[in-house]
Amino acid sequence: MAETAREEAEGGTYFHKERIKSSPEEEARLEIRHFWRIIDAFRCYRVHVQEQVSRAERQFCSLPQRHQNLLPGVLPNLARIRQCVDHNQEVLQAIIHNCLHMFENMEYGERREDPRKTRPTSTFDMDKLKSTIKQFVRDWSEAGQAERDSCYKPIIQEIQRLFPCDKYDVSKVSVLIPGAGLGRLAWEIARLGYTCQGNEWSLFMLFSSNFVLNRCEKVNELTLYPWIHQFSNNKKSSDQTRPVRFPDVNPQSLPLNSDLSMVAGDFVEVYTESASWDCVATCFFIDTAHNVIEYVETIWKILKPGGVWINLGPLLYHFENIANELSVELSYEDIKKAMITFGFHIEMEKESMQTTYTENDRSMLRYVYDCVFFVARKPADLCLNNQEDDQQQSFPPAAKSPRRDSTDSLT
Ligand SMILES: C[S@@+](CC[C@H](N)C(=O)[O-])C[C@H]1O[C@@H](n2cnc3c(N)ncnc32)[C@H](O)[C@@H]1O
Repeated sequence: MAETAREEAEGGTYFHKERIKSSPEEEARLEIRHFWRIIDAFRCYRVHVQEQVSRAERQFCSLPQRHQNLLPGVLPNLARIRQCVDHNQEVLQAIIHNCLHMFENMEYGERREDPRKTRPTSTFDMDKLKSTIKQFVRDWSEAGQAERDSCYKPIIQEIQRLFPCDKYDVSKVSVLIPGAGLGRLAWEIARLGYTCQGNEWSLFMLFSSNFVLNRCEKVNELTLYPWIHQFSNNKKSSDQTRPVRFPDVNPQSLPLNSDLSMVAGDFVEVYTESASWDCVATCFFIDTAHNVIEYVETIWKILKPGGVWINLGPLLYHFENIANELSVELSYEDIKKAMITFGFHIEMEKESMQTTYTENDRSMLRYVYDCVFFVARKPADLCLNNQEDDQQQSFPPAAKSPRRDSTDSLT
């Protein structure tokens, strides 16, 4: 996180996960600055990627002419990439268009600084933007169907098995999806009639999910070129510039009485009300924690007695090796022991579910995650202790503006 409180401790320097809580005015100022920083990243995409393409052109043109003559397709391919960049920029502009008022409880006003003085976007933010573009493939394209089948389908099937519609009024079954990304899993669950809330921290994701969920309504109406940033491991030059269309479904096609909401903010800060959810479903999420036990503790607290936690994902800790960030990289074995100590009953467990994450299926380098998948129940016959009761607050959790994007790199 950008704002961390430093704790000096014997044997070395430690960094505390909590942000320094500034005055409300300072918090608001930081929030607004962060908002505009992410908007700038969307706006600067073209300049940034075109510069990469220019570099590739310069490198190619520095080759001996006889070598260049052997490669007549290279410059035309780079020219094609330039067109794709321009096209991606148009979609990115559409995503940030009107997002000034997307949070009900937060206004970002007009930009105070002169936009010409905009600081150049960091490589870090640009990488996050490129990852967000790939997330459209995972969540909202036909090309992402196989990946969704491996990641989202098992979770959805468990929800349907645990809360079948012939035994439950599913509209009264509340499901929370922390780290909801572009919202497809939450959308699918809401489509089945469950009350579903996605929670997301990153403005890159929030702007984008807001765009798909609220402003797209025709199947495959838009095109992105998600793979143009990948210059290595292409079998064919045209693989780099192949289009991906989205959305593969009409996001507005949810049944009229469906209940889908998105809440912005840090999961552990937003969800503090005890015993309020029937189900928490985490997909590729728990390794985003500084301290995964804090997530376990939060999920334990917010589940109703008898409620279930469904998890699918790897343990690619997002803060590992990030300077000045707390990161505790626990094994699944250790997490499981802690869960059981909290009182969770592991009702189902598969330790080897092979999945991908925003995979480029034509790349010569492909990662497979060997995920864990489990259902853990908070027992129904639990006596809530006083401490939990003390912290009860009104439901549903208030929508919050998101915290600053930090080093929560996409997997
Ligand atoms: C690896 S992505 C997975 C997204 C989605 N669940 C999926 O499977 O495609 C992790 C997501 O969690 C979000 N995230 C990370 N830390 C968070 C936090 N503390 N609270 C809410 N969301 C968080 C990130 O912004 C990112 O979108």
